[in-house]
Amino acid sequence: MKQVGGGGRKSNCLVIFSVVFSLFLFRCFVYNFEDLKSIAQFPFSSTPKTQDNKAIVEQEDDEEVELPPEGCDLFTGEWVFDNVTHPLYREEECKFLTAQVTCMKNGRQDSLYQNWRWKPRDCSLPKFKARLLVEKLRGKRLMFVGDSLNRNQWESMICLVQSVVPKGRKSLTKTGSLSVFRIKDYNATVEFYWAPFLVESNSDDPDTHSILNRIIMPESITKHGEHWKGVDYLIFNTYIWWMNTAAMKVLRGSFDEGSTEYDEIERPAAYARVLWTWSAWVENNVDPNRTMVFFNSMSPLHIKSVNWGNPNGIKCALETVPILNTSMPLKAGTDHRLFVIAENVTRSMKVPVHFLNITTLSEYRKDAHTSLYTIRQGKMLTDEQKADPATYADCIHWCLPGLPDTWNEFLYAHIISRS
Ligand SMILES: *[C@@H]1O[C@H](CO)[C@@H](O)[C@H](O)[C@H]1NC(C)=O
Ligand SMILES: *[C@@H]1O[C@H](CO)[C@@H](O)[C@H](O)[C@H]1NC(C)=O
Ligand SMILES: *[C@@H]1O[C@H](CO)[C@@H](O)[C@H](O)[C@H]1NC(C)=O
Ligand SMILES: *[C@@H]1O[C@H](CO)[C@@H](O)[C@H](O)[C@H]1NC(C)=O
Ligand SMILES: *[C@@H]1O[C@H](CO)[C@@H](O)[C@H](O)[C@H]1NC(C)=O
Ligand SMILES: *[C@@H]1O[C@H](CO)[C@@H](O)[C@H](O)[C@H]1NC(C)=O
Repeated sequence: MKQVGGGGRKSNCLVIFSVVFSLFLFRCFVYNFEDLKSIAQFPFSSTPKTQDNKAIVEQEDDEEVELPPEGCDLFTGEWVFDNVTHPLYREEECKFLTAQVTCMKNGRQDSLYQNWRWKPRDCSLPKFKARLLVEKLRGKRLMFVGDSLNRNQWESMICLVQSVVPKGRKSLTKTGSLSVFRIKDYNATVEFYWAPFLVESNSDDPDTHSILNRIIMPESITKHGEHWKGVDYLIFNTYIWWMNTAAMKVLRGSFDEGSTEYDEIERPAAYARVLWTWSAWVENNVDPNRTMVFFNSMSPLHIKSVNWGNPNGIKCALETVPILNTSMPLKAGTDHRLFVIAENVTRSMKVPVHFLNITTLSEYRKDAHTSLYTIRQGKMLTDEQKADPATYADCIHWCLPGLPDTWNEFLYAHIISRS
């Protein structure tokens, strides 16, 4: 039995966090992906078929967008250089991007990280059409729920849709844990809800949450869940906040009652408890006829460059191209035990959940992190900090435009295929 420490918000806690975190990542858990069966479910049944039986959707300008065939595993494939179609939008044209992700504006010199397109092995991702996506979102709410990686993807989604919305007809507001991008003429929203563990935790404050001593209530989700009800597209994730200690602190009692005692539980066991709580919430509160549910697998980090065969690297800081040799065994340091749990929980649910298997394809993208071209505690990195990438490079979050756009291309494929 232990007591909750009082001061988790000291100004130097991020530094400590980085050190603890880096140390921790040297002890990795690598499970073999080949052991896992592909579970790609891709219900494209309700869309019209052409003569050769390919699903298509009509667009306003009469151009057809071809959908991948049902059952195609979108997540097995390769990165191909394509500076004609990618990036899908320009960094300087999306005013909604925060300084955390605008790497070019923040001084990054190389821009090739924006030019990679994900090519599934057995089919193609549908051509991205912003107007088609906005049409599909008409009268609908789309919400990302989770941690800063889901916020990263939310920012990407805003940029993907905002280009076809005129000035003054879109807005961004933040109220507590909920941030809402509104497209007025379509009565559509693209939202983000901060809940880094999905369940209640002491890290739920939307502004002040740099807490080292993280404590969760694995069975408490209804408070957050109230904000997710009635949403048409729900995209969940939880991973990075689990990674700074091998065991998770689980509160005895409740924060509301002022409880401070906790037990320490092995990370996978605690993660499983949280995901079963989450799945029960979904089963009890989501109408599958109305709402499409997605769960993002873990977004990987790139901390140890020997893992991808670059002994002279410094975390992700010197990387400018993806890992292209896909026959090289990948050891990015991801805790695949959590992948197995998430895959298992989502597969066993009655409400269909689309498991977005983004982990491996993102592990190839050592080039795509914000690295030194980002902010830290609200401020742009100083020149002194930039000179010390081993300490200051952020190899967790991703530049935009960039990798999270691809994650959204998977969402797009599902959304436009819905009748
Ligand atoms: C996830 O995708 C990777 C390739 O990106 C593949 O090797 C793996 O089998 C997939 N896992 C599941 C559970 O679909
Ligand atoms: C795209 O890449 C090719 C090959 O590297 C290069 O020749 C061309 O100038 C690039 N085009 C643009 C628009 O950057
Ligand atoms: C706008 O969308 C919301 C949420 O999807 C819905 O409840 C509301 O009825 C819509 N309003 C109009 C005028 O269509
Ligand atoms: C969903 O729709 C189907 C067919 O219209 C109906 O049979 C079913 O009861 C609905 N399910 C829910 C949870 O409303
Ligand atoms: C890819 O990696 C494998 C395994 O490490 C190695 O045998 C092979 O030579 C590499 N291929 C290229 C083109 O570098
Ligand atoms: C997978 O989920 C089932 C319940 O659907 C559970 O009985 C089983 O232990 C789980 N397996 C793993 C490896 O988590």
